[in-house]
Amino acid sequence: MNLRVPQVRFEPSDELAALCKAGGDPLRLSVLRVLTNDSFGVLELAQIFAIGQSGMSHHLKVLAQAGLVATRREGNAIFYRRALPQSELLGGTLHAALLEEVDGLPLADEVRQRIAAVHAQRATASRDFFARAAEKLQAQQDLIAGLPQYRDSVLALLDSLSFDATASALEVGPGDGGFLVELARRFSRVTALDNSPAMLELARARCSDEQLGNVELKLADALHDEQLPADCVVLNMVLHHFAAPAEALGQLARLVKAGGSLLVTELCSHDQGWAREACGDLWLGFDQDDLARWAKHAGLIPGESLYIGLKNGFQIQVRHFAKPTLNGPTSPTLHR
Ligand SMILES: C[S@@+](CC[C@H](N)C(=O)[O-])C[C@H]1O[C@@H](n2cnc3c(N)ncnc32)[C@H](O)[C@@H]1O
Repeated sequence: MNLRVPQVRFEPSDELAALCKAGGDPLRLSVLRVLTNDSFGVLELAQIFAIGQSGMSHHLKVLAQAGLVATRREGNAIFYRRALPQSELLGGTLHAALLEEVDGLPLADEVRQRIAAVHAQRATASRDFFARAAEKLQAQQDLIAGLPQYRDSVLALLDSLSFDATASALEVGPGDGGFLVELARRFSRVTALDNSPAMLELARARCSDEQLGNVELKLADALHDEQLPADCVVLNMVLHHFAAPAEALGQLARLVKAGGSLLVTELCSHDQGWAREACGDLWLGFDQDDLARWAKHAGLIPGESLYIGLKNGFQIQVRHFAKPTLNGPTSPTLHR
């Protein structure tokens, strides 16, 4: 007997239909909205929208099948983020238009509050880690990368910017203060903020040993406590400890004076999930394009970048982001 197997054919219209179906649900549109500048795990999204995990998994599956969200493994957890529209592909224009409309949707107050709660849970995990880890900092850093591996590259980028002798610097998360020694030599005033008393104590000891008279150390949270802006803001290996890195870049951009610079040293994306446990990392590095996109969204202009491959397989990115002057993109007063 000749059995006829029905042929399943995917027509281009099926792809468009999947896109329309995925977008045709208020909750799924709201999920896309909260993913504008953030990524969340399924449990976090279930918490944010106060629905069950299986219901949220279903919605994420529909969005993923339509190419509207992409996943990224962070240790044992899977995080969802928005997929970028690709204009040359079928549905790309519709995808881009949908996201543009979604960005204009207001977020309900209770959703905002639950997002803040999720971020607070992540921040607590990070703070707890540094409270416990101060004495073991060197050992933790040796697992992935420590200042000796990126110091020269950050300095090369920093020195290429030729700051004026009167310029000020702000280092967020100085750890044991190793980089403060370099900043103190190059800037007239240096402020360093760390939200871990134990880490700040290490930095204090370093400043005292090195007799750094122009460094002020502050116990403060870079994202929640008011700070005066500086000409150069430096973050070495700190961003991956922030609960919401895209939002954090927006807040940090406000700490940079017009015409000034933000220097960020970070791990490139990696899949070494053990780093979450061993090093307290909330994020397993970042895609270079994501950092540039978040910085542009924060009103900064991506500048030079350096990449450092390490023997252990990790890669570090050292990035410069410029804050435009009030009159134009570069600052004649800051740069010689
Ligand atoms: C991995 S250490 C990096 C230390 C140093 N910058 C280096 O490159 O060796 C991260 C530092 O950021 C600090 N930190 C994390 N979140 C912070 C926040 N929200 N505000 C201020 N400091 C923070 C931690 O306490 C810790 O000292």
